Amino acid sequence: MHLECLQLSISGKTALVELARPDQLNVLDEQALNELEFVLNHLLEQGVKAAILTGQGRAFAAGADVKAMAEMDERAARAFSLKGNQIFQRIEEHPAIFVAAVNGYALGGGLELALACDLRLASSKAVFGQPEINLGIIPGFGGTQRLPRLIGPTRAKEWILTGRRYNAQEALTAGLVLEVVEPEELLPKAQALAQELADKSGPILALAKRAINASTGLVDQNGQTEAGLFASCFTYHDGMEGLKAFVEKRKPQFQDR
Ligand code: COA
Repeated sequence: MHLECLQLSISGKTALVELARPDQLNVLDEQALNELEFVLNHLLEQGVKAAILTGQGRAFAAGADVKAMAEMDERAARAFSLKGNQIFQRIEEHPAIFVAAVNGYALGGGLELALACDLRLASSKAVFGQPEINLGIIPGFGGTQRLPRLIGPTRAKEWILTGRRYNAQEALTAGLVLEVVEPEELLPKAQALAQELADKSGPILALAKRAINASTGLVDQNGQTEAGLFASCFTYHDGMEGLKAFVEKRKPQFQDR
């Protein structure tokens, strides 16, 4: 598969996967999800033990593609959410350990991608958030399930219900990231961590990951519940208004219907 949204480099048993559409802030659309699925299969075939996921430019990923979502109906929205959920769950079930190196904006689906990884490092320039509520929708790529698991339901409700943005230090305090480093240190740190992991036994790392995930596993397997509720947003005036307002670069007029 020719990759347009991602760049992949493999060195020994580690890999660097970069979201590579910086002009669009690495938005996650169908094509990016398809390429991510392809890359996950390739990492498996190559026996990669530790993979770094990062973004080129000023974003890790600024979310699912709002412009595409503004054109979706309930059915299409459900399919899109299920697809994102299933591919992100493959990261969770993958034998390799995934390190998200969050370099900039990790918003909406971008944050959800980082949440599906095993470990997260942040640049001091990283910005986190689940802003979907401001678009009249809810997270649809597993955020309603993974965020409460990682930072607790109280904080997760604050993040998801207010849609606020948080800086790297706040993400560290919330327990979302391991460490905050200067931007130029991010990739070297992530590479050192990936190499440290790759020096272990691959199958034993995978067993440890499975055992830990079993202790905190997803209640909503395959995202069925979340995808249904996400799709419901598209039957409301406010869902369509919020998405349209983003595309038209204006403030949404919510009407509680
Ligand atoms: N979906 C689609 N396009 C997006 C996008 C998204 N999630 N996030 C950014 N873009 C696009 C912008 O529309 C813009 O494209 P354009 O020039 O063709 O209009 C381009 O990426 C650059 O973004 P811009 O908004 O001009 O940059 P900024 O520095 O002013 O703001 C953000 C950066 C991240 C704060 C802002 O882009 C944003 O709020 N994005 C949406 C975040 C979001 O709600 N994500 C959740 C989606 S579920």
